[in-house]
Amino acid sequence: MSDGKTPLPLSFIVIGGSIAGLACAYSLHRAGHEVTVIEKASGPECRRGAIRSPPNMTRILKEWGLQSSLEQMGIKNARINFRQCDTGEKIGTIIFHDQIMKAFRADYLFLEYGRLWSLLHGLVTEAGVNIRFKSLATAVDPQKPTVSIANGESLTCDIVVGADGYESVARRCILGGQTRGTVDKRCNFTLTVPTRVMKTDADLKYFAEAPEWNAWLGNGSCIHGHLGSNDWYTLYLVIPSDAPPDFRENWDGECSLDQLKLDLGQYDKRLHKLMQMAETVVPVKFVSHEPFESLVHESGKVLVVGDAAHPIPPHRDLNTSSAVEDAMTFGSMFSRLTDRDQIGSLVTAFEDIRQPRSVKVVKSEHHRLDFLSLPFGPEQKARDDGLRAALELAQLDWDSADEDYLRETWEDYIAMFNYDAREVVDDWWTKWGPVMRRASVSQKQT
Ligand SMILES: Cc1cc2nc3c(=O)[nH]c(=O)nc-3n(C[C@H](O)[C@H](O)[C@H](O)COP(=O)(O)OP(=O)(O)OC[C@H]3O[C@@H](n4cnc5c(N)ncnc54)[C@H](O)[C@@H]3O)c2cc1C
Ligand SMILES: *[C@@H]1O[C@H](CO)[C@@H](O)[C@H](O)[C@H]1NC(C)=O
Ligand SMILES: *[C@@H]1O[C@H](CO)[C@@H](O)[C@H](O)[C@H]1NC(C)=O
Ligand SMILES: *[C@@H]1O[C@H](CO)[C@@H](O)[C@H](O)[C@H]1NC(C)=O
Repeated sequence: MSDGKTPLPLSFIVIGGSIAGLACAYSLHRAGHEVTVIEKASGPECRRGAIRSPPNMTRILKEWGLQSSLEQMGIKNARINFRQCDTGEKIGTIIFHDQIMKAFRADYLFLEYGRLWSLLHGLVTEAGVNIRFKSLATAVDPQKPTVSIANGESLTCDIVVGADGYESVARRCILGGQTRGTVDKRCNFTLTVPTRVMKTDADLKYFAEAPEWNAWLGNGSCIHGHLGSNDWYTLYLVIPSDAPPDFRENWDGECSLDQLKLDLGQYDKRLHKLMQMAETVVPVKFVSHEPFESLVHESGKVLVVGDAAHPIPPHRDLNTSSAVEDAMTFGSMFSRLTDRDQIGSLVTAFEDIRQPRSVKVVKSEHHRLDFLSLPFGPEQKARDDGLRAALELAQLDWDSADEDYLRETWEDYIAMFNYDAREVVDDWWTKWGPVMRRASVSQKQT
């Protein structure tokens, strides 16, 4: 375990105070550094959309002392159901058996974005990290390095961490300009529905209470949803639109579904009712990118984490956890800093550790999304047949479960959920730490 503090505190500016930014700020603060967070939003806002905390993310939050709060506000994901879009018939399922979750040493939770944010915000402010709201970063100068704020100020520090999401300013600085990506025609909408209202409808009561993730698989589209807390249900629409409206690549907008003329005719009547009950609709544009060439500026003083570093499609399983994993990795690396000469190597090590992992996660997320929204045709039929064939096996209880089925289903998850960000840093350090220490000593001597 490496929960030490560095004897050499540096000053960090973190751009972006969402999940990645706050987690990074906390992790760096714990490592003994001085951190300021710059956030463009005007302050704590209440966002009811739900996010998921897979076991490896829950594990990190637990380590930060948040277990009892998580238990109070989180909902344990018991299973994923795949449903036929029109009838809602269940054609496949994945059950998160207790036995499996125990092996991961943490739960797979549904959390409300706003509540998780408040939890992290509390953690960070209590620790004494300075957060500046209403501060839009407009540019980063990688040499000093300096962050310019829209009000004309500029702030200088030792290292700038860009946790500023899809439209990252820090990424622009690292890559030397805008990045090109592919916008696809599916629009993404996040709807939040009060469970209080759902419970008044006999068709919807079930969904307001079941701790499960349901996905209705449509023709080239899908709708999926789950509870974020006992009070709010979140529904995600991934639907093609011939003329995708000009939404931004961020989470700041709201719209009304009626304006959009989406073709939802193929979907379960219950979903239509559910959509009518929504109190907020947040549209997000997603541009998919090839993995970025670099997450770190060549000066070694600016880097990106979270969605800025590896944009994962909106509301996918693992986007949030990647951000927290980045934070843990980064803080853990920088808790070992003993010499300014090591900064470059630590930053590069962060990139070496995180880039391959993130590429894998992003790929797997795209792959899963495409799998859920296949156009009707032979591939979709094969998918559905596969799900149906596995349904019976999946529903067996743990003791009589089919081993081959379990192995196949869980292989992927195990690789993803079992990742322990800190262990990876420990391993890296065991291998390279001594070399780095020798290098800085001999540099001093020459
Ligand atoms: C308000 C909000 C609501 C969300 N709701 C959901 C949800 O319901 N479901 C879901 O799955 N995911 C949601 N997300 C996304 C989710 O947080 C991310 O996918 C994931 O947690 C990775 O987060 P991130 O911190 O890397 O990026 P983001 O969460 O996108 O955070 C980026 C942060 O940087 C700030 N920022 C951006 N540019 C600048 C700048 N130039 N200067 C200063 N600050 C800047 C933004 O205001 C934001 O707070 C939401 C994000 C936000 C910001
Ligand atoms: C599925 O969508 C495609 C493209 O929009 C359309 O041509 C096709 O008729 C649809 N198939 C069914 C069975 O609805
Ligand atoms: C919607 O999200 C999917 C993945 O979640 C993505 O592939 C697609 O590009 C997004 N569509 C738009 C218009 O942003
Ligand atoms: C958990 O695993 C997912 C999937 O691989 C990954 O995106 C995420 O970063 C991991 N999170 C943590 C906190 O280790």
